[in-house]
Amino acid sequence: MLDKKIQPDEKLAKIFELEMLRVNELIRERMSSENAPRIPEVTAHLIGAGGKRFRPMLTLAAARMFDYVGDKHLKLAATVEFIHTATLLHDDVVDESLKRRGRPTANLLWDNKSSVLVGDYLFSRSFQLMVEVGSLAILDILASASATIAEGEVLQLTASRNIKTDEATYLKVIRGKTAALFSAATQVGGKVAGAREEDCEALYEYGDALGVAFQIIDDLLDVEGSLENTGKNRGDDFRERKVTLPFIKAIKKSTKSELAFWEETIEKGNQIDGDWEKALLLMEKYDSIGATRKEAELWIQKAKLALENLPESDIRVLLTDLADYILIRSK
Ligand code: IPE
Ligand code: IPE
Ligand code: MG
Ligand code: MG
Repeated sequence: MLDKKIQPDEKLAKIFELEMLRVNELIRERMSSENAPRIPEVTAHLIGAGGKRFRPMLTLAAARMFDYVGDKHLKLAATVEFIHTATLLHDDVVDESLKRRGRPTANLLWDNKSSVLVGDYLFSRSFQLMVEVGSLAILDILASASATIAEGEVLQLTASRNIKTDEATYLKVIRGKTAALFSAATQVGGKVAGAREEDCEALYEYGDALGVAFQIIDDLLDVEGSLENTGKNRGDDFRERKVTLPFIKAIKKSTKSELAFWEETIEKGNQIDGDWEKALLLMEKYDSIGATRKEAELWIQKAKLALENLPESDIRVLLTDLADYILIRSK
């Protein structure tokens, strides 16, 4: 039997297996609290469910690219995953999501209060970890990314339920809520390894473009993915009346009666059985799914272009393949 082709994410996981074991150990150590039993309950539920660990692996890869010797990058990788996990806890409250990583969300199993407070705890733990690294420049990158993520989520809050949301606003939202952490993850990996300023800049550009494409694909998966693969419910964005790129592209081309449909379902929130299927048909009619995918492809091109400014290495090849993989990922 022929070997199944190993995907770049699996390759990355394999190459950084030992380091990721230590990162996961750090995460386990720091996600706990002896003073408030609700904390380990919630964190074990969410973190124990896994997750792709994309962002911490990016940090490790960037550090490896510049031959980093030491263990500060492990703390940074754990920091990045903590920030990510904190935002997921908060995001599922805001989005009223019921599924995450194939499990019921913490807000469903416990309540919104627990998710918000445990999310805050993880954020605080991430700051403790990054302080231990002892670099103001790195602290600056991660603190700024955290603020930008929150801005992205808040901007999304005010843009959702508005069918006039344009592509520029959408881009601003996803650059904030998602790409900011990707670019911080790659950049701090370079910084800790003592990479030159222009290399850190290229790492930033790569992470930024990769993160934008990652979120565009996430929004496509919300439309056409499966719970089995993504671990999340399909159609969450429509139900939550979030105007993501496939919707924006379909709404833009609407006839008068189609516009009335979007007004009813997204602006007024009057959704009835069959509306989701109708929304899908409209996205098909205008090929907004194909057009959205094309947009993601452009960002992946940008990501790969940024890599060309970095020194040639095996890791660079892997990061190039990883960028291509983002476009075909189903989980
Ligand atoms: C989910 O991120 C949130 C987004 C920015 C789309 P991931 O898809 O990386 O989630 P996990 O960590 O693998 O569960
Ligand atoms: C994720 O946006 C952004 C953050 C978690 C900050 P989404 O709301 O699209 O992510 P999922 O689909 O719930 O993972
Ligand atoms: Mg969400
Ligand atoms: Mg989503």
